[in-house]
Amino acid sequence: MEFKELNHNRHAVKRFKNETVSIDTIRAILNEAHYAPSGINMQNWHFVIVESAEKKAALAATGRGHNGEQISNAPAVVVIFSDTNLHDRFEKVLQDGGIENETQEKWVGRIKNQYLEEVENYTPQYKSDYLAMNTGFVTMNLMYAIKDAGYEGNVILGFNKGPHINEILKVDARFRPELVIVFGKSDEKGEPHYRFPLSEITEVR
Ligand SMILES: Cc1cc2nc3c(=O)[nH]c(=O)nc-3n(C[C@H](O)[C@H](O)[C@H](O)COP(=O)(O)O)c2cc1C
Repeated sequence: MEFKELNHNRHAVKRFKNETVSIDTIRAILNEAHYAPSGINMQNWHFVIVESAEKKAALAATGRGHNGEQISNAPAVVVIFSDTNLHDRFEKVLQDGGIENETQEKWVGRIKNQYLEEVENYTPQYKSDYLAMNTGFVTMNLMYAIKDAGYEGNVILGFNKGPHINEILKVDARFRPELVIVFGKSDEKGEPHYRFPLSEITEVR
């Protein structure tokens, strides 16, 4: 799909047909999503595909309002976590990324010491914003990838976050839960976009 078509036709869809989405299909969609950019290429995202009915039900129980129902009825559920161990994550970016090509090697040499020190000194607020910001980028890519693959989906922030999500899904405590993504085939296309007129949200100085 061309970008404009994708952009104008993607809407939040919350009800799905009872049709399984294979793990391979979900992986292919995640593969597109993870080309998203991130600050210093940290790629702090960590995806958990929730296949087990038992785990999906436990996750749905954390959903606020109608979100629980969206999770329990969705054929595909992915929880996006953030890696909070930025030092180790960044070392891996440098090691794995540095070997592959010369451009990356130059980049690595230039910023290695500076950024390794910097990520260790992020304040809790800055770090939290940083993780959430990068999650936003990969999530938008993911929503487009879902739509482009012929599915409809939605983003869910309205669930009770905390270490219990890691316990339910047996995910290492270094990963912080961010968002639940639901998708599947659907006859619904979502509501038309309501957006503020550009003139109200833009200033020229
Ligand atoms: C960060 C974020 C959190 C959201 N959380 C929820 C949610 O908890 N439950 C829900 O039903 N929809 C949720 N949505 C969907 C929004 O309500 C929806 O994207 C918005 O109304 C705009 O509609 P559109 O996606 O069709 O353009 C969320 C969307 C975003 C981007």
